[in-house]
Amino acid sequence: MNRADRLRVAVQKSGRLAQPSQDLLAECGLRFRQSRDKLFCFGETLPIDLLLVRDDDIPRMLAEGSCDLGIVGRNVLAEQDDGTAPVVELRALGFGACRLAIALPQDLPWNGAASLAGLRIATSYPRLLGRYLQSAGVAATVVVLNGSVEIAPRLGSADAVCDLVSSGATLAANQLREVAVVAPSEAVLAGSAAAPLDARTELREMLLRRIE
Ligand code: PRP
Ligand code: ZN
Repeated sequence: MNRADRLRVAVQKSGRLAQPSQDLLAECGLRFRQSRDKLFCFGETLPIDLLLVRDDDIPRMLAEGSCDLGIVGRNVLAEQDDGTAPVVELRALGFGACRLAIALPQDLPWNGAASLAGLRIATSYPRLLGRYLQSAGVAATVVVLNGSVEIAPRLGSADAVCDLVSSGATLAANQLREVAVVAPSEAVLAGSAAAPLDARTELREMLLRRIE
């Protein structure tokens, strides 16, 4: 079967956006032949297939064309945007609201962004944090971690964190307090800036209309 005949939509395999993403596609009338552990789900009602992946992989998969649309946090999309913009936000989806925020241990004072000067800040979002520090004119050390960012201050590997906050439970569990929002976020539908000029174009338009 020609790749051009079927549209591929990537969604988060597990995590905050996984279930609401699949619910949205179900509401759009899409049904998939699906077993939970499988990463590729064949579309039964329309020639639209589902890929279950790590959310962080979605922008790259869209850029390289291995999938056509993706549901991903705006924060993940923004972090991987290097300015060449091969992948764009097509539509905000109204769920998965959260924010990328700076949080400090209770004993560190906060008097605005200048309080971060000279600190080591752990994050999975070095680009967004870097922009925030630059626009605040603050020099701090960015410590890049791919997971378990919240534990870094307790381990002594960082002084503060810059991480995604939804309910705030993770910060509270790690005795951290949120002091500043770096970027608000929510789930968005993302796609390549240059839509493929084949049968997928119409499928992409149809899915966008159904999401409306
Ligand atoms: C984020 C973040 C925290 C958690 C915060 O992870 O890294 O672990 O959510 O949520 P809370 O404020 O409700 O406790 P996410 O679900 O985005 O997963 P990922 O970063 O591992 O992809
Ligand atoms: Zn992730």
